[in-house]
Amino acid sequence: MTATAVAVEDRLVYDLDGIGAQYDALLAELPGVRVRFALKACPVDEVLRLLAGRGAGVDAAGPQEITQALRAGVPAGRIHYGNTVKSDRNIADAHRLGIRDFATDTVEDVRAVAAHAPGARVFCRLATTGDGALWGLSEKFGCAPDEAVRVLSTARAAGLVPAGLSVHVGSQQMTADAWQDAFADLAETLTALRGQGIVLDHVNLGGGLPALGYADRYGAPLDPPLDKIFAVLRDGLRHLRDLHGGPLAFVVEPGRHLVADHGTVHAHVVRMARRRGPDGEDRHWLYLSVGRFNGLYETDALQYPLVFPDAPPGAERVLARVAGPTCDSDDAFPGLVSVPRELRSGDPVQVRSSGAYATSYMTLGFNGFAPLPHHCAGGPA
Ligand SMILES: Cc1ncc(COP(=O)(O)O)c(C=O)c1O
Repeated sequence: MTATAVAVEDRLVYDLDGIGAQYDALLAELPGVRVRFALKACPVDEVLRLLAGRGAGVDAAGPQEITQALRAGVPAGRIHYGNTVKSDRNIADAHRLGIRDFATDTVEDVRAVAAHAPGARVFCRLATTGDGALWGLSEKFGCAPDEAVRVLSTARAAGLVPAGLSVHVGSQQMTADAWQDAFADLAETLTALRGQGIVLDHVNLGGGLPALGYADRYGAPLDPPLDKIFAVLRDGLRHLRDLHGGPLAFVVEPGRHLVADHGTVHAHVVRMARRRGPDGEDRHWLYLSVGRFNGLYETDALQYPLVFPDAPPGAERVLARVAGPTCDSDDAFPGLVSVPRELRSGDPVQVRSSGAYATSYMTLGFNGFAPLPHHCAGGPA
């Protein structure tokens, strides 16, 4: 460790070449599938421009994201409004901005889309359990297959185009089974819709593809079965296409999978300390300059790998609780993390795999800690 505390500028750095390569690898795994980047995972113009330049579209959560995507050069025809929760005004604004594809999951929302985006195309989100995901996204969204038939029949009667179905199996989905279950529901719904004379043109398989860089709560790498997930996706696509009998396009809307492992927070040690807690246990605590309120909001579900660039190789390590700098006890990593015993205030720390949702979950300045600035490295010359 350095003998004197060094002032380190905290920042989040995105590796554009890594994100580009991740996008290319995804297309190679799912040939012919359209990618609409879930902008909420990384609302950074440089990232958007990079992905748009490779042909990606955008899954937008509302008019603000739509505006950002258009400004970054994504054509309106490649942007869909992927949020089922929207006001009349949100719908009208999106329609005025040129958006024609809207997610839905209720009859009430369909009627609002018909009124404020006449003639639009709608895709109905099917509910999933969220089982197997680190963030389930289950209760609030989606409907059962029979309800989807009612929603899309209402859409047709209201002059909308019933265009598709979607699912979202939860974010950082760690099992292939979740997609298998989703395909079963999609098949059931497509068949039931055909019985009503409704023939869709696409299926949207949502987000949820995992990032590979997170650790488990004891620091061992997580091991999501990505190859198996892709194999299940390819099988499912083939099966749905056969069942459908006509042209059926497929869309995915990954966020985390494209950006998480290509963003690193560069932070510093506030203090390494030892303290006896109310349970009487003596424990090491490592307080960092970043935490839940300035980017690492997901610390309650995810463990980001920590790298200490100034620690000598072979430095003695201890198990510590790791926490952010604020006066909030939620601002802490789960479990115990192996860290070098000798760390000084000011030592640099890299929080790896922190590229997803960090810029968008940043508070404006909780406890006075400013949002982290971000920078992009690499990318087109
Ligand atoms: C509708 C929708 N699509 C895609 C995503 C992206 O999910 P992920 O980052 O897990 O790929 C989300 C995230 O919550 C979402 O709400």
